[in-house]
Amino acid sequence: MKTFRSLTLFLLALTSTLALPIKIAAQSGSRFFPAKDLMSVGVYYYPEHWPREQWDRDFAKMEEMGFEFVHMAEFAWAFMEPQEGRFDFAWLDRAVELAARHRLRVVLCTPTACPPAWMGEKYPQTFLVGADGRRREHGSRGNNALADATYLRLSERVITELARRYGKNPAMWGWQLDNEPQAPPDYSPSAQQAFREWLKARYKTIDLLNREWGAAFWSLTYNRFDQILIPNPAYLYGPSPHAILDFRRFTADQTEKFLNWQVALLRRHIAPSQWITTNFITNIGSADPRRTKDLDFISFTIYPVSGGQNLGEDGFRLGWQDGMAFAGPFYKHIKGATGVMELQPGQVNWARINPQPMPGVVRMWLWHAFAAGCSFASTYRFRQPLYGSEQYHYGIIGPDGVTPSPGGLEYQQVIRELRLLRTKYDPGAKPPADYVARRTAILWNHENLWNIDNQKQTALWDTWGHLFRYMESARSLGAPVEFISEADDFSHWPVLIAPAYQLIDENLVKKWTQYVENGGHLVLTCRTGQKKRNGQLWEGRWGEPIYPLIGAGISFFDLLLDSGKGEVKMNSGTYPWNVWADVLKPMPGTETLAEYGNQYYSGQAAVTYRRLGKGSVTYVGVHTKDGLLEKEVLREVYKRAGIATQDYPQGVYVDWRDGFWVGVNYSSTLADIPIPKESVKLLGSQPLKPAEVLIWK
Ligand code: GAL
Repeated sequence: MKTFRSLTLFLLALTSTLALPIKIAAQSGSRFFPAKDLMSVGVYYYPEHWPREQWDRDFAKMEEMGFEFVHMAEFAWAFMEPQEGRFDFAWLDRAVELAARHRLRVVLCTPTACPPAWMGEKYPQTFLVGADGRRREHGSRGNNALADATYLRLSERVITELARRYGKNPAMWGWQLDNEPQAPPDYSPSAQQAFREWLKARYKTIDLLNREWGAAFWSLTYNRFDQILIPNPAYLYGPSPHAILDFRRFTADQTEKFLNWQVALLRRHIAPSQWITTNFITNIGSADPRRTKDLDFISFTIYPVSGGQNLGEDGFRLGWQDGMAFAGPFYKHIKGATGVMELQPGQVNWARINPQPMPGVVRMWLWHAFAAGCSFASTYRFRQPLYGSEQYHYGIIGPDGVTPSPGGLEYQQVIRELRLLRTKYDPGAKPPADYVARRTAILWNHENLWNIDNQKQTALWDTWGHLFRYMESARSLGAPVEFISEADDFSHWPVLIAPAYQLIDENLVKKWTQYVENGGHLVLTCRTGQKKRNGQLWEGRWGEPIYPLIGAGISFFDLLLDSGKGEVKMNSGTYPWNVWADVLKPMPGTETLAEYGNQYYSGQAAVTYRRLGKGSVTYVGVHTKDGLLEKEVLREVYKRAGIATQDYPQGVYVDWRDGFWVGVNYSSTLADIPIPKESVKLLGSQPLKPAEVLIWK
């Protein structure tokens, strides 16, 4: 029997953890959000864009539509400090006061993404230098040099003014730092200096750096830290991958430092009841949200309909099926709470092609945000802008300033529905045991992404796509999926998937092995274990440190061209591939689940499976064209582990949260979700149409 410790103990532990992940319970961001509120809905407003006489009318409309909070001022530095050192908050005082009068809680932001014109004019060094060697200038946003002392001094002053002024204001709910921190690479002299200091702190001696960077290659070898230049792929042919990896680590650390520093500035003056967060872009990948330790929780932004085809004929209107399913659990796991800070209210203006979202789909995204664990959902923006670079971007209210857009009406509907659901909230509700038993973790580390994306080996490889493929497969088997880090105790999840986990060390292999020996079911996928943490290959056979764990050797990997017609065979099925193929050599006791069906290594293993201790290890060496093989492999893993699964169509997500089941449909076809006879339908009906929502208890 594949028991995971004792099954009862296991289920008990999971039941309690599904509501509140163990690791972060003590300091969880969930303390700011009473569970009975389910999800609060809010909206972005820019008072500085509109005549003062319209503010009261606008806030009144937000109240009438049911919004519960308003988000302001992330781009308003020029209005807070119109001249250097001369502050003006009278306008913001008035806006906050009006918001409070209309029973809207207030989220204010630090305005550091948009410094005023006087700053660029007087202190050009406050702007970053791009890979093109050009210094950025006033006229856009998110372009500053985070290591520049003047930028930091001026930021500190405006943040402190804001914190003093609003930190005790009872209308305040919380704070957002900056806007969508993205860790853009900076090649300015201040960044250059900070990078050298960062390297010195990391390596202590230049000899060690030379070794870790493999600096013997092409005579890169340095004599001193102050010779090191930021590696710039725009200028250099074949810059060192080790230097690039460290520069990406450094850049993410700079962003982290900047955000944590802002937290400390605010915390000096604000009430402990006011939370602090920032709004990362769902899958941006250059900044690393896990590094921002001092924030109360991390929130995110998402624009599902922005020019992608997505699933089926109507996918371009239904939106990106992976975004919310990933972002909710990923960000929530970091600090125990999350919210979507910006969610598209309608058509956007910035994609290659900007279609209209499908009627109803804005509502579906909001319910999906709830299902994915969000404590709040907010939309960018209340009023459609009449001017500026986001002309044509929809708002909750159209260009006349008073008429709700179709998406605005869908927000209003969800707010009404949420109020209904709040009356049915049961604090004692427990997640069903079969759902909990499928609980699956995906191990993720941005450093793998950085290293792989710098040396993909095939232009067909997509690191995020590889991750989402496994998330989608597990979700369509009905598993709740969380995204965890190496610091987590893996034993909380019966199934653990580590997709393309390229950078490893012996401790991680040991931790994986113990997890499996104690009863965990581990799935590793292609590229895993190829390199050490410094990005160097192992002096040994290909990916050798994982051989004893997977019970197989990896002979080599192969990549086909765009038109490649690789085949893999599993059971009676044949699956096409052309992206990636690790060719495996199982050891005695390891089973081959799938083998290559053509190419010169036809008949050799593509997927292996072995039992180890009380658990199992599966190695999926191939990335197929459509992901169907990967789903079949996962199905087999759950089956052999004695875990019952479901079979939802791709793009249909079914989640349990706070006593409610929520089903959403991003596929372009009707879906039937099996629900128990005794359940009570609260919203929606079957079959579930695309863009529709089904909620039952
Ligand atoms: C977001 C950004 C907002 C606004 C929005 C437009 O990425 O944070 O400020 O620009 O896009 O869709």
